[in-house]
Amino acid sequence: MRLILLGAPGAGKGTQAERISEKYNIPTVSTGNLLRAAVAAGTELGMKAKSYMDSGSLVPDELVVSLLAERIAEDDCKNGFILDGFPRSVRQAEVLEEMGVTVDKVLSLEVTDENIIARLAGRRACLKCGATYHIESKPPVKEGVCDKCGAELIIRDDDKVETIQKRLETFHSQTEPLKDFYGKKGILRLAYDQFTPDANTAEVFKQLQ
Ligand code: AP5
Repeated sequence: MRLILLGAPGAGKGTQAERISEKYNIPTVSTGNLLRAAVAAGTELGMKAKSYMDSGSLVPDELVVSLLAERIAEDDCKNGFILDGFPRSVRQAEVLEEMGVTVDKVLSLEVTDENIIARLAGRRACLKCGATYHIESKPPVKEGVCDKCGAELIIRDDDKVETIQKRLETFHSQTEPLKDFYGKKGILRLAYDQFTPDANTAEVFKQLQ
């Protein structure tokens, strides 16, 4: 299965992608995680991307597309993958098609802006393996430590209130039109917020049947 997960920042794409990945045994390809890894490694691409990420804008296509193309060419993506955070604009969706990448389903996680702000304010993230936690709805077993790989959990630089607002604006203006783009192709499914991560997973699996 080749799946695209759409949704506002903080809609739960990373959270649900982990669970879909386990169930269907396909990897998650998160352009946000790839970019954060490049920033942490101090690569030239990472340094160019950082200012866009910190301001809540989209990173220029030429930087993101090369990262994505390299990642989906890897062996573990042969039997399918979940794209989390790509495409993020109609232009990126067209680029994916130009690359010859076909997609089976596009699942949009539908969450209100109000709930998004509450979620992102409590998020903790693992930079090493990409796992995501929330101080109330999904706390790690040991505070500040990733359950999966034992690395330290961080608050992302772009989870400040003013940046969250800008990311939401970017989502509504540039990413949300993708629902129309994929809706016209007949492959769009909507998963409405059921409020807890587990209830959302049940809804997600229902929509993927
Ligand atoms: P990216 O990393 O993709 O961030 P995002 O889309 O803003 O999404 P998030 O990772 O913030 O949220 P999520 O939906 O994964 O939610 P999560 O599961 O963590 O991108 C970051 C930046 O990189 C962009 O701003 C841009 O600059 C750049 N970028 C990336 N891709 C790009 C591209 N293709 N083109 C250009 N630029 C690009 O959940 C959030 C929190 O809520 C967690 O704490 C979680 O535990 C909690 N939670 C989840 N579900 C629930 C629930 N049901 N109830 C309560 N809490 C919940």
